[in-house]
Amino acid sequence: MANVFDCESRRDSPTVKSGCSAASYSMGRLYTKYQIWFGNRLMIPRVPAWCLQIVRTCTWTRVLSLGVTLVSLWYFGGKGLAWLRDTSARDRRAGEQLFVHEWQPDDAWSVRGDGLGPVFNARSCVACHFQGGTGGGGSLQQNVATFEVLPTTLNPVPSGGVIHQFATQTDWQESLDTVHAIFPIVRKQTAATGRYRSRVATSDPVVQHTINTPTLFGAGTIDRIPASSIREQYTRRLEAGKETGLAIVLEQGEVGRMRILSDGRIGKFGWKAQFATLEEFVAHACAVEVGLSTPTVKQHSPQKHCEDSDAELDLTQRQFGQLVAFVAGLPEPRLILPDEPSEQPQVLRGRELFSEIGCASCHTPEMGDAKGVYSDFCLHDLTDADTRNDDFEFYPRDLQIPLPENYPKVSEWKTPPLWGVGQTAPYLHDGSAGTLLDAIKAHAGEGEIVRKQFVSLPKPDRDSLVKFLESLRMNSTD
Ligand code: HEC
Ligand code: HEC
Repeated sequence: MANVFDCESRRDSPTVKSGCSAASYSMGRLYTKYQIWFGNRLMIPRVPAWCLQIVRTCTWTRVLSLGVTLVSLWYFGGKGLAWLRDTSARDRRAGEQLFVHEWQPDDAWSVRGDGLGPVFNARSCVACHFQGGTGGGGSLQQNVATFEVLPTTLNPVPSGGVIHQFATQTDWQESLDTVHAIFPIVRKQTAATGRYRSRVATSDPVVQHTINTPTLFGAGTIDRIPASSIREQYTRRLEAGKETGLAIVLEQGEVGRMRILSDGRIGKFGWKAQFATLEEFVAHACAVEVGLSTPTVKQHSPQKHCEDSDAELDLTQRQFGQLVAFVAGLPEPRLILPDEPSEQPQVLRGRELFSEIGCASCHTPEMGDAKGVYSDFCLHDLTDADTRNDDFEFYPRDLQIPLPENYPKVSEWKTPPLWGVGQTAPYLHDGSAGTLLDAIKAHAGEGEIVRKQFVSLPKPDRDSLVKFLESLRMNSTD
């Protein structure tokens, strides 16, 4: 055993720093006594070889300092983590206060700016995001009026914006007329091109939408979905679609598409998947909905329908970070089974049917770490073939120029995540479907085959599927 705990012999070894300590020396003696007490045979097999190896190569000072380091890491690391946890919990609480704060013109909470407005849609975030709790979706009354400007030969760059419902001064009020003042209707006219004269039809480049407020529950988890998951799911869907009821849709090339933004990132947020990150959306929501300038996006100028780059800050970087942290920390909705055990099988049957008939091909149940999100985050066109080319109604041939390849068509919308859908009526981008059943029945175009599958199910199965959707929520009561 001398070679195992032979501190005496290692003490003078050149690799051992001065003071292979008295402690280790006496420990060696102690151990020898211990061995004698219990007997060699008992002890030796119980000491694992790696342990002996460590001990052989370590001096006691090293063991001690390692111990001290581990203990301090455990103690101070724990404290540090707790401190970080406290700070982020404090930030989220401060963010919640910003989310529910009712902003006024020249609000005392504004750092340097003018508080609410000058143009806005509501005084607080929670005024629109409230269903199922602070951060949820909104009803029809909170719909937002938006517009798209289609590219024409006269104005080749497509754009869009919001028609604000309110202004802090009456003469700043916006309307469709204020949009048309910037993007005018082209009246019927005759145009001369060289020796030829052609008739240009009356054309309105502006398309209006009314947009329903989605829930923000689970937004942080959506933010963390990597672009690769969306890409992989899209590719898988193309492959799988060939073997399922989506075959005809695929043959027609109607498979939806990812929203690839001009900088190459994949869009996830917004009904047109127009933003890649939660932070970007929150900055725009501050500027557009409440009229608050943040370090990245400024509030809009009245009747200009675009950012006022000279506006002073309403929120500091820190406050803005707190607001984002609050939204990102909102919990995920989930499947809440009915309390009554006899009703539970119906909901679970509904979940099976949802996948069986093909709803899950677009409403993908899992995406990255977002389990139960039910979206592929792709754009789809659910309008039927007869109305599909309606773009031309707004887009006369005389003035036509193609939309950029990755720009969504007027009738394309992102598959909305269905988590929380039990508490977010009305449905669809415009809130035009009052019930879940109405929403399902509105699936034409790329959703036509799956809708037909749904309609042909026996009534109890249709009920089960709807019951399943109703069970995707934040809490068991409204
Ligand atoms: C007037 C109603 C209204 C107010 C006020 C409002 N929102 Fe929204 N919010 C909407 C609508 C409508 C959409 C959908 C917009 C779209 O898709 O283009 C939306 C979308 C969002 C989204 C994207 C969600 C997703 O998954 O696509 C975020 C994030 C968001 N809002 C955060 C906020 C924050 C933060 C505030 C407060 C600064 C706020 N909103 C104030 C109506 C509102
Ligand atoms: C081809 C893709 C696709 C398929 C298949 C599909 N959906 Fe959808 N779903 C969408 C899109 C896109 C929307 C949003 C359309 C809009 O707003 O105009 C939507 C909207 C919805 C909504 C409204 C959600 C909300 O928050 O407003 C519900 C509910 C829904 N789908 C359920 C279903 C069910 C149930 C099935 C199967 C019967 C199904 N969907 C099949 C793409 C699809």
